[in-house]
Amino acid sequence: MLNHPTNTSVPPDTFAPPLSDFPSPLTTPNAQQARAWNGYEGEHWAGHQERWDAVNGGFNEPLLDAAAIGRDERVLDIGCGAGATTRLAARRAAGGHALGVDLSAPMLARARAGAAREGLANVAFEQADAQVHAFPPDGFDVAVSRFGVMFFADPVAAFGNIGRALRPGGRLAFVCGAEAGDSEWFRALAALRPYLPMDDFGASGDGYSPGMFSFADPGRVRAVLSAAGFAEVAVAPAVAYGVWGRDAADAAAFLLGSGPGRHLLARASAGDRARARAALTEALRRHEDGGALRMRATAWLVTAVRPAAAAH
Ligand SMILES: C[S@@+](CC[C@H](N)C(=O)[O-])C[C@H]1O[C@@H](n2cnc3c(N)ncnc32)[C@H](O)[C@@H]1O
Repeated sequence: MLNHPTNTSVPPDTFAPPLSDFPSPLTTPNAQQARAWNGYEGEHWAGHQERWDAVNGGFNEPLLDAAAIGRDERVLDIGCGAGATTRLAARRAAGGHALGVDLSAPMLARARAGAAREGLANVAFEQADAQVHAFPPDGFDVAVSRFGVMFFADPVAAFGNIGRALRPGGRLAFVCGAEAGDSEWFRALAALRPYLPMDDFGASGDGYSPGMFSFADPGRVRAVLSAAGFAEVAVAPAVAYGVWGRDAADAAAFLLGSGPGRHLLARASAGDRARARAALTEALRRHEDGGALRMRATAWLVTAVRPAAAAH
């Protein structure tokens, strides 16, 4: 779940390839995110889709159960990435359909390939900024997201837009990063501190800037969703164990190869990079468990409803 631990850890533009595959990326209000998720970060997630799903898959059932998707319902998956939750949602809505939206062209390519491989006919994917995309009004019964809603430049506007895409009485359910220090993967990264410039890691400026932990404060989640017109907002803790690799060395390589990991390594000497890798591997060893590296992660499971008499 090492996805932009802080807003400042978004890989800089130098890591991003040309953006020719993303239509008008600079006109989106989330242009920095669009660059990152169409650049190194998005390529890493797309290239390691199975690994990221093994890391975050423990949240699938709690999320989809909380969404209470009915057989004939229309589901919107926000920041769907490579589409694992969209495909699972489409299976639950066998008589309806699921649409996944995401900024990232490489991740959406994976999502489409996965749906084709699984022979799912009731799922589609669209490259869009969920904050401003012109969704069909009242077009969905339920919106879900697995760690795809913490990156909006203007969360109230974004959730307002998502709310208008829901029919009156429609539901919202998502998981977002909770307090960083409660997750074992984040605590393990402290081993890097002597060797890498970790000062801003995991503590985004005001704590509310777009990033993995921008909704770590449940009070803020409630305030944002209420301001966006949602009601019955509930924030519950969710815990899952993710598989980060075969063993400590494999997981360390994965973590350090991710966008934020690479960003940190790029700012260290070759010697410190090697020392950092060794220290992280050592710190991860205690999580080795029968041929897998398992770590506990915490999240908030958030649910809300667009009021039946919504006045957006
Ligand atoms: C941490 S990844 C999670 C991806 C996927 N939901 C999963 O669980 O594997 C965050 C995703 O949110 C997407 N995202 C960020 N901001 C977005 C926006 N404004 N509109 C649509 N997608 C966005 C990113 O492109 C990225 O795919």
